[in-house]
Amino acid sequence: MSGAHILAITSGKGGVGKTMLSANLAAALARRGEKVLVIDADLGLANLDVVLNLHPRITLHDVFTGKAPLDQAVIDAPGGFQVMLAGSGLIEYSRLTPQVREQLALLLDTVRPRYDRVLIDTGAGISDIVLYAVSLADEVLVVATPEPPALADAYATIKVLAMQQGRTSTMLVVNQTQRPGEGRHVATQLQAVLQRFVQLADGASITLQPLGNITLDTAVRQSVQKRQLLMLAYPGSDAAQDIREIARRLAEATATAAAGLQSPP
Ligand SMILES: Nc1ncnc2c1ncn2[C@@H]1O[C@H](COP(=O)(O)OP(=O)(O)OP(=O)(O)O)[C@@H](O)[C@H]1O
Ligand SMILES: [Mg+2]
Repeated sequence: MSGAHILAITSGKGGVGKTMLSANLAAALARRGEKVLVIDADLGLANLDVVLNLHPRITLHDVFTGKAPLDQAVIDAPGGFQVMLAGSGLIEYSRLTPQVREQLALLLDTVRPRYDRVLIDTGAGISDIVLYAVSLADEVLVVATPEPPALADAYATIKVLAMQQGRTSTMLVVNQTQRPGEGRHVATQLQAVLQRFVQLADGASITLQPLGNITLDTAVRQSVQKRQLLMLAYPGSDAAQDIREIARRLAEATATAAAGLQSPP
């Protein structure tokens, strides 16, 4: 595979921190020297524009409807990466029409050779459009919080991705942890439940790749309120440090996977 490594960032339950992570992880990866694009694929209710305080003239909507070429929808974000924003309230895109399918796939084909990493910020849950966006990615990262409803929804999402798309490896980030070790504990629990209750064909099992946790940190809400990236407004905060660590692990995992692909059989 050449070009960008495409990572979909998704979740079972809404509001768990996908958009916050997408934007700040992009900044952390950019700091490591990667050329990064974030695509806002929460096509119904986008809010990456709010988090980044950007007001694009041209959005994915214009690209998808043929009103503007793709290049015009790519904009520089603070944090040293680029974004393509959906534009808010595009009700027609909350449904997965053949046109949306085709356009999303075409979009990824076009941007792949131009970047090291493409992050797709999806909506929550297992709607057709979320599942389709995830299906186009090389890897999926599920965000969950330690609360039981978020964990149950993360379990359901990971299960559906394995059953429908044959994704037996899923990355996990536990957000809003309140105790040291809580993220690891949650990942271990989730892995055990998946092992026990999800039966895949050929006896395959699902492997969770925990990338780490993000501390519940008032700096996150403050940065959102200031409409600034956490990584820029509060780079020394606990949550920012956690995100840098997640970026490091992600880069490591990608390098390991690439080395595996290159080694002789
Ligand atoms: N680690 C954290 N510490 C404190 N607050 C957090 C943290 N992570 C997220 N939040 C809060 O949760 C809010 C929702 O986060 P975000 O918008 O990223 O979630 P989302 O998963 O993208 O939501 P949606 O499903 O609606 O797209 C943030 O605006 C922030 O206030
Ligand atoms: Mg979001």
